[in-house]
Amino acid sequence: MIGHEKVLSADFVNSLQQVVGTPHVLSTDLAGYGTDWTGRFIGSPALVVRPASTSEVSKILLLCSQHNVAVVPQGGNTGLVGGTLAHEGHIIVSSRRLTSIGAVDTASQQISVGAGVLIEQVQEAAKSHGLRYAVDFGARGSATVGGTIATNAGGINVLRFGSTRHQIVGIEAVLPNGDVIEHMAGLLKDNTGYDIASLLCGSEGTLGIVTAARLRLVASHNLRTTVLLGCDSAQEVVEVVGGIRQQFDCLDAAEMFFLDGANLVASAFDVSIPFVAPAYLLLEFSSDIDLSSDIEQFLTRSQFRGHCAVADNESSRTRLWRLREEHTAAISTIGVPHKFDVTVAVSDLPLFINAVRRRVSDANAEWSVYIFGHAADGNMHINVLGPTANDVSVDEIVLQVVAEFKGSISAEHGVGSAKKKWLSLSRSQTEIDMMKAIKSAIDPQGLMNPNTLFV
Ligand code: FAD
Ligand code: MLT
Ligand code: ZN
Repeated sequence: MIGHEKVLSADFVNSLQQVVGTPHVLSTDLAGYGTDWTGRFIGSPALVVRPASTSEVSKILLLCSQHNVAVVPQGGNTGLVGGTLAHEGHIIVSSRRLTSIGAVDTASQQISVGAGVLIEQVQEAAKSHGLRYAVDFGARGSATVGGTIATNAGGINVLRFGSTRHQIVGIEAVLPNGDVIEHMAGLLKDNTGYDIASLLCGSEGTLGIVTAARLRLVASHNLRTTVLLGCDSAQEVVEVVGGIRQQFDCLDAAEMFFLDGANLVASAFDVSIPFVAPAYLLLEFSSDIDLSSDIEQFLTRSQFRGHCAVADNESSRTRLWRLREEHTAAISTIGVPHKFDVTVAVSDLPLFINAVRRRVSDANAEWSVYIFGHAADGNMHINVLGPTANDVSVDEIVLQVVAEFKGSISAEHGVGSAKKKWLSLSRSQTEIDMMKAIKSAIDPQGLMNPNTLFV
């Protein structure tokens, strides 16, 4: 077992400094690394180490295994499930200096990048060659490639392009003993045994450190059409999404939020709301033809009577998206939320949302609940303000409702330390035992991110 109170030996710290250089072994002012984005999970890492290459990562992990020191991999620290919670004696290994960006290979539509490269940087590199990196979400400017692989991040385009897992065509990683896995050829067909990239994707830093990846890029269509619809209810949102998906195969995003969240964003960040409605559906299409009249005809045919705002330029598009994407930050301006990121069947969303609101208010009418998310994925984000950080009664309530709807307790953010107590609500004991068997085969000392995923 690793003693949380473990003091790191001078010999170990000196060896780390020899590997990465003294300036990249940090022992003070670590709050920016130790506390999570929401402020709910506060860790106390003994050190933060910032390697600049795969071989430095390899030497660090070899040293940690020799000195039995626990390692918490970290990228942009934008995770929302307490996934980089380092306790006394644990060290954080930051990927922020692994920032190589390879040339865009237009023949294969792929790019190789370091784990510390930001999502936004991959998007920019793709765009400069008329292509697109399909993973996109509000933290694009601070989330890293390594972090999004480790959490199998989703975002707003999953319904058309899949999650991060579907973008990986090659991976480079360092295992807990310092061994390096390098499988970066990017061959689209390569059926030679277990898919290591897929195993590491979603492993939340518990199996090794991703140091680089080869990512697929997709065609970037010229015309983006962004439409905000005002609906009467979540029921109407689900019905419109169903109709739209039947009619259009170029729907990139279908995001739902409600008037309370829109008002919060409007007041927190001075963003204008084009019209008032109980529920909002933000749709985005990308194609090579102008869709606005087809969309108008669809809405008329389906007798849609709500408000409709169509973005007619980049700044009006940005304004519409800010109403949705700033929910996370706006909620954090009024408190430290208990965040839930769950999936249920799309058709169950209206009943599920009502059940969650009712059960939380029955528990404490003082608590406030903000619900928003990726409607077409059945993935809702439920943020509850009011309970103290350690009062997990609300976590129990919400995740039990998810289980009653046969949903997943974590749609895209991962399990982290926040949800690990409820893993068995979504995974059978056989599956959990298998995951633990894989973990102990690859990380026999249990050094990789020990506070995450498993109780
Ligand atoms: P970190 O937070 O640093 O780490 C996350 C996890 O990955 C930890 O378990 C860590 O140990 C592990 N890890 C990090 N780097 C590595 C590595 N190189 N090798 C191995 N393990 C590693 N997420 C979504 O999926 N969809 C969204 O729509 C979305 N929107 C967001 C909006 C906002 C405003 C914010 C703040 C966050 C949002 N997130 C979303 C959550 C977060 O951005 C993702 O979970 C993202 O994948 C985290 O990336 P990161 O680099 O910050 O990783
Ligand atoms: C989002 O979709 O905005 C994110 O997943 C962040 C959140 O859940 O707050
Ligand atoms: Zn999300």
